[in-house]
Amino acid sequence: MISKSLRVFVIIAVTIFACLSCAKEKVPGKIKIGLSMDSLKEERWQKDRDIFKAVAELMGAEVVIQAAQGNDATQIAQCENLITQGVDVLVIIPHNGEAMAVAVEKAHESGIPVIAYDRLIMNCDLDIYISFDNVRVGELQATEITKLVPKGNYVYIGGAPTDNNALLFKQGAMNILNPLIEKGDINLVFDQFSDDWSASVAQKHMENALTKNNNEIDAVIAANDGTAGGAVQALSEQGLAGKVPISGQDADIAGCMRIVEGTQSMTVYKSIKSIAAEAVKLSIRMAKGESIAAANTVNNNKKDVPSVLLTPVAVTKDNMYQVVVRDGHHRLEAVYKNIPKDQWPE
Ligand code: BGC
Repeated sequence: MISKSLRVFVIIAVTIFACLSCAKEKVPGKIKIGLSMDSLKEERWQKDRDIFKAVAELMGAEVVIQAAQGNDATQIAQCENLITQGVDVLVIIPHNGEAMAVAVEKAHESGIPVIAYDRLIMNCDLDIYISFDNVRVGELQATEITKLVPKGNYVYIGGAPTDNNALLFKQGAMNILNPLIEKGDINLVFDQFSDDWSASVAQKHMENALTKNNNEIDAVIAANDGTAGGAVQALSEQGLAGKVPISGQDADIAGCMRIVEGTQSMTVYKSIKSIAAEAVKLSIRMAKGESIAAANTVNNNKKDVPSVLLTPVAVTKDNMYQVVVRDGHHRLEAVYKNIPKDQWPE
């Protein structure tokens, strides 16, 4: 006959054992993805957020999203919060590629894999990086502008120096410009990054470039549509909008409208649908503990990070419809809103 106290002890012990083993095994159910975003300032990031969430939910996963409004301390705290919430995988769009290495380490301490989304995170044991071929983005920008202006005074208006992509875009542009600079055809008269990708900083840069060169500027390479918007504003104040070719990137609605209206020469289309869907698929596989074989690697000053690099496409007036509208990025009526209807593409 087992005594009552022994029976109680056995019941408690069995219960504790059962609880421990269920804590160790992963509770079957939804995969939880944490998405930590730098900001939602540029139009593209709102699309990234919406498409990422929609695809994840379609695939049966849950997403917790936080945006840091361009503040490193906030972004690190938000990542810590996502880790505490028990996400299975952390996807980070870093404001500052150097500063966010800490968040990667913290996630790893809790056994959570990390994906860098669109922007690389430097100096850390990052698990995977998904982006576009960003050097190619810069090459596309400079190729298009040098076709229009093979010789003359050039201005380079870059993005945020804390964003590794801004360095890659510049590297790509210089791949095309350098031989022409060496030949003496192109004179790079102004070359500045724009903190936090700010359009108003870009506008100031353009104003300074114009003033210093008595308005003798022949072409501008602006790193994205936001900075291009600022620069076009400065050009238009001098009556030069539409006369000085200028690049952009992102196929923002404002950028696309400027292109069809003639005040911006090109943008670079990067399919947000593709990067967001790929990133969700990778997240789910990583959350399940699958190992990922990626075709490329990119060095982040600590390791060669397995990388998925998608292809960017140059967009001008000529292929706006085929690329941007056909892919569903913007509606025809939105892009051509200020253009007489008889001039809309068929
Ligand atoms: C992205 C660009 C974007 C920029 C500003 C870069 O890292 O690659 O698409 O325009 O950040 O948000």
